Amino acid sequence: MVYLDGAFVDASDARVSVADRGFLFADGVYEVVRVYDGRMVFLEEHLERLRRGLSELTIDWDGAGGLETIARRLLAENGLERSDATLYVQVTRGAPRRRSHTFPEGVRPTVYAAAQAYPRHAAERYRDGVGALLVDDQRWKRRDIKSIALLPNVLANQRAHENGAFEALFVEGGCLLEGSHSNLFAVEDGVAITHPTTTEILPGITRAVVLGLAADVGVEVREEPIPADRLGAFSELFLTGTTTEVMPVTRVDGAPVGDGRPGPVARALQAAYLAHAGVREEDAGRTSAA
Ligand code: PDD
Repeated sequence: MVYLDGAFVDASDARVSVADRGFLFADGVYEVVRVYDGRMVFLEEHLERLRRGLSELTIDWDGAGGLETIARRLLAENGLERSDATLYVQVTRGAPRRRSHTFPEGVRPTVYAAAQAYPRHAAERYRDGVGALLVDDQRWKRRDIKSIALLPNVLANQRAHENGAFEALFVEGGCLLEGSHSNLFAVEDGVAITHPTTTEILPGITRAVVLGLAADVGVEVREEPIPADRLGAFSELFLTGTTTEVMPVTRVDGAPVGDGRPGPVARALQAAYLAHAGVREEDAGRTSAA
């Protein structure tokens, strides 16, 4: 059961027009919200980012406030009230009669929401770390908008996957910006560094939560660009994201990061993040995803 334009319908019956500007132009934004044991986390923050993206694209839709009720019904209808899951929400500029680059007038945005089971990643990934692959950043210049135009992200992620790595790290202007679907932190001299929230990266909700928790665990943080040529000097790298949580990166392009094992900063923030999100750590990998 999914939600589409005001109705709850069977996923196989859900139909979007071929004239939809999401389909024709990738003219829309999306959010992915994490659900632990049926409980949505950081929903307000995601809704706020959604509102901001819509406003940046001047898509006129004021229904974000109703999404919590829709999400609860989706979780219930799909038997996910006690599951680890994700909630996906997408809003596009809608389906005008004519295809034209110019914004249509009087067209209702298309609103789609779905919930799906999303077990946490295998415990070993969090415990032992994962590999990452460096890729040249070929995205547009407004990465702060969570646009549905994800082709460069998808291509980068696929390359990482085919190379046995968990994530692709976008490199631009000699800096490590973020992953294809996660933000990046580097640790040097015990200080956790992450790219500032410019238009070059997505202002991740998980990133913000982790930054807010750092002081509690005695970790100093700095929001500044991460020079790619300092890779050899970093004792740790880790990713943050809704589906990724706090994930240590222990290899980049096959070479070890630091001593090749997850470090104390990533481990401390991992524990703090899970505690803050109300996740019991012993559940990690209980029903692990592929
Ligand atoms: N990805 N950077 C990019 C490019 C992302 O796509 C994401 C999220 C993040 C992390 O943001 P957050 O902490 O708000 O999830 C950073 C989502 C989960 C996705 O596309 O699946």
